[in-house]
Amino acid sequence: MEFKEALTFRHACKVFDENKKISKDEFGEILEAGRLAPSAMNMQNWEFEIIKDKELLSKVKKACWDQIQITSASELMVIYAKISELKNDEYIKKIVALKCKSKEDQEAYFNKVKAFIKNNVGDSDEQIYGWSRAQCYLAVQNMMMQAAVLGIDSCPLEGFVESELNKVLEINPKEKRVAILLAFGYKIKPTTPKFRLNLDEIVKYR
Ligand SMILES: Cc1cc2nc3c(=O)[nH]c(=O)nc-3n(C[C@H](O)[C@H](O)[C@H](O)COP(=O)(O)O)c2cc1C
Repeated sequence: MEFKEALTFRHACKVFDENKKISKDEFGEILEAGRLAPSAMNMQNWEFEIIKDKELLSKVKKACWDQIQITSASELMVIYAKISELKNDEYIKKIVALKCKSKEDQEAYFNKVKAFIKNNVGDSDEQIYGWSRAQCYLAVQNMMMQAAVLGIDSCPLEGFVESELNKVLEINPKEKRVAILLAFGYKIKPTTPKFRLNLDEIVKYR
């Protein structure tokens, strides 16, 4: 599928065909698209959790405004925005070492990351969460577009009550917070049209 075709294919699917399952290989490609997403300073501020347990899924659905996508999807993913790891020098060093091989390069890049977090992000949990969450959306978009290329429908879900979801998923919000949920599967209703502002309403030149 051409990229432009995939852009129109992708839509927020409101209900999936419960009987149609995504193959393991294709879901693997979707996960890989998430892994390859860009992030500021390459900090990869995300974690993907796939919920398979039926009982847990129905509890998650309740915490997500009872949205039917949660339980009709073939795969339901929770995307977490990392918090504590971005405050942990060991995590930052691990990421830095992926790219920088010499001790000098590692130290220089480590200091750059620390300065970026201090000056551009901030050190409160709320600030780190906001920053990490922004990176998560890039992974989400990559995964939705990879799904579309494979003819797989998706729906991003921000409609949830975080305190309820934390209880159900047993999350410690000092460690990580839910950024968004992502449901994948096959639609049972036709793709909805796009309702967007015109380009001249959103693009400015000066
Ligand atoms: C961050 C985000 C959160 C969203 N949360 C929900 C949601 O909880 N439930 C839902 O049905 N759609 C949700 N949507 C889908 C949007 O309503 C949808 O993308 C928008 O109306 C444009 O329609 P389209 O995606 O079909 O082109 C969300 C979309 C985004 C980007």
